[in-house]
Amino acid sequence: MEKQKIIIDTDPGQDDAVAILLALASPELEVLGLTTVAGNVPLNLTQKNARIICELAGRADLPVFAGCDQPLRRNLVTAEHVHGRTGLDGPSLPDPTMPLDPRHAVAFLIETLRAAPPGQVTLCTLGPLTNLATAFGEAPDIIPRIGQIIAMGGAYFEVGNITPAAEFNIYVDPEAADIVVRSGVPLTFMPLDVTHKALVTAPRNAAFRALGNGAGVATAEMTDFFERFDRAKYGSDGAPLHDPTVIAYLLKPELFSGRHVNVAVETRSDLTLGMTVADWWGVTNRAPNVTFMGDLDADGFFALLTERLARLP
Ligand code: RIB
Ligand code: CA
Repeated sequence: MEKQKIIIDTDPGQDDAVAILLALASPELEVLGLTTVAGNVPLNLTQKNARIICELAGRADLPVFAGCDQPLRRNLVTAEHVHGRTGLDGPSLPDPTMPLDPRHAVAFLIETLRAAPPGQVTLCTLGPLTNLATAFGEAPDIIPRIGQIIAMGGAYFEVGNITPAAEFNIYVDPEAADIVVRSGVPLTFMPLDVTHKALVTAPRNAAFRALGNGAGVATAEMTDFFERFDRAKYGSDGAPLHDPTVIAYLLKPELFSGRHVNVAVETRSDLTLGMTVADWWGVTNRAPNVTFMGDLDADGFFALLTERLARLP
């Protein structure tokens, strides 16, 4: 079986951490590196947290890169109110000993995409799209070389989680998201419409903890902490595992359903900045550019995730 080559662009974040663990536990995937970006917490913490999770998974060999420390044109908005001061509140995990790769994340993206055969690398984005948009601007030649982008971001029927209209990853850097949705790269979005159906209920959390290994117990502790925001705001029955849906889609796309529609990003209105306007009902003549997911088999998703976490240290 040929492994899918992927780069994970991420702003850990507890749900990013679970997505990274899922990817590193899955033999179908070859993770070429983790490129980190400012988002949930500032870059100095997201790059540290990515290395913490690599070591939790027994993968201190995996290259981790620091990328952009602020959006293309705006001040950084972070989400400590959701993820805690460290971005990985919940478990007590040791500081990383593995080094940060000295290359900039954007340089790694460009170098890797130029070196790989066209179409061979999938980009999995779990945070604001600043690194990708910066790479596209510096090296437009890489855009047609990308196989596909699977992105956690956006919302339509579910509307916003950081403003009434916008989902966090898109809201933090709407100009970057606009560049990506206009790029012509094959895009699949995991919006809140689907991720809010991937809730870590008490039985699911107990199943993580019952694994008894470091990854399972840490996942239980991370989601125990991470659920507070959504329980308080939405009355959710557990933490929504936003980012792991990106990896699960690569492993079992049949777990998901959606539509290939036009998605545009609001970059001008203060009222709706960062909104993903999905033409779900085909009422415009705007060309479809995103496979926008709307539903998932939640039990199947958690069965996959739990089985894969069991494979880790
Ligand atoms: O809106 C949810 C997204 O924002 C997730 O990727 C979470 O980690 C935060 O980055
Ligand atoms: Ca994230």
